Amino acid sequence: MSDRPADASPAKVWSGRFSEPVADLVKRYTASVFFDRRMAAQDIRGSLAHARMLARQGIISAEDLAAIERGLAEIAAEIERGEFVWNLDDEDVHLNIEKRLTALIGDAGKRLHTGRSRNDQVATDIRLWLRDTIDMLDTRLVALMRALLDVAEAHAATPLPGFTHLQVAQPVTFGHHLMAYVEMFARDRARFADCRRRANQLPLGAAALAGTTFPIDRESVARELGFDGVCANSLDAVSDRDFAIEFTAAAALTMVHVSRFSEELILWMSPRVGFIDLADRFCTGSSIMPQKKNPDVPELARGKSGRVFGHLMGLLTLMKAQPLAYNKDNQEDKEPLFDTADTLLDTLTIFADLVTGIRVKPEAMAAALRQGFATATDLADYLVKKGLPFRDAHEAVARAVRAAEARGCDLADLPLAELRTFSPLIGEDVFDVLTVAGSLAARNHPGGTAPEQVRAAILRMRDTL
Ligand code: ARG
Repeated sequence: MSDRPADASPAKVWSGRFSEPVADLVKRYTASVFFDRRMAAQDIRGSLAHARMLARQGIISAEDLAAIERGLAEIAAEIERGEFVWNLDDEDVHLNIEKRLTALIGDAGKRLHTGRSRNDQVATDIRLWLRDTIDMLDTRLVALMRALLDVAEAHAATPLPGFTHLQVAQPVTFGHHLMAYVEMFARDRARFADCRRRANQLPLGAAALAGTTFPIDRESVARELGFDGVCANSLDAVSDRDFAIEFTAAAALTMVHVSRFSEELILWMSPRVGFIDLADRFCTGSSIMPQKKNPDVPELARGKSGRVFGHLMGLLTLMKAQPLAYNKDNQEDKEPLFDTADTLLDTLTIFADLVTGIRVKPEAMAAALRQGFATATDLADYLVKKGLPFRDAHEAVARAVRAAEARGCDLADLPLAELRTFSPLIGEDVFDVLTVAGSLAARNHPGGTAPEQVRAAILRMRDTL
């Protein structure tokens, strides 16, 4: 930060009560301006709404309000131009702006803080900041979902071995597989929206903790700032950080989803598997092994999930057993919150682009499907439809699989005569169900992997975006 030299008069807004200045290390230890200055725009927005209310209620004069509006506009411009001088001596974003305001407009600047405290001010700023951040995140989640939907649509019928226990289980389509992630990100959107709704209540008016003796009008401030209402209890208003925890919890879950997707991308891209390739711009080479093309972006995203989980744990611990009302502990809410948002915003932005750069290799997927007896369940279902109880069908097919395994071929490669040794119910029509296309098409119900259903799911999801 651009540190202004220590003030000639080191007086702080609260130093009237103190007999010696704060120690330098303590000053640095207690300051938050290094990081909370990123809420400057929200702080100014909140101050403007507060000042306008004070003027409407006759608590400050129209002239004072005009000066405050002019001063805050000037400060916003200074910050925008990168000319604003942030000063550690003024502790946080709130005091830095207030001090500059007073330097610019004199006594009117000193009247701005009437009827409020930094406690309700900071709570308001974070909620405003969080709202803006959630709106940005939502846009990026939608962009990622759209990218996934496009690839899913192109591969609504491309067969992929579906795994359980990381072993070939049953055929699915690549589009169906990607749509599973779209569902996860849709739930993430809903969770952020839910968090936003609960956070969107105005703390201002709570002042330090008990409310204020001035005839304030909180509802009008809430309306001007786009809040749905006012926090109902002043003690709760200044000390509640549930929204920070809820946000970080939602972010942690989004990162869980990103990390699962990353893990699959890494696996799919491994030359041993080779189902996909990622565009070069998301990979790096090795400084020693010339053949390597490493999936760095998904690996890093998988790793970055850890820091977000850590922030969630940090915030829970910050709030655990904290007595009412405001405590300085709360200042520690910002860095985890900011880092969570930055990590998630970057991750989602990069992934939207990364998904558009996935090169699908259908031949490798098909080859893997031929090796895992992926249609064994289809054969069992076939026998059940011919009247065999499912457990007996399971047993018959298991024996057929063993025979195919001994021969080193797929079930579909066994001659009809041999298949009939496992059950006389097997007829010529069995080969329809033993093919991958037949297996896929047969799972034709909402939520199933039949290409027709995958396309329907894509359309339904597009409608929600
Ligand atoms: N910088 C403080 C924070 O981030 C602002 C509120 C300070 N209030 C106080 N009573 N010290 O929480």
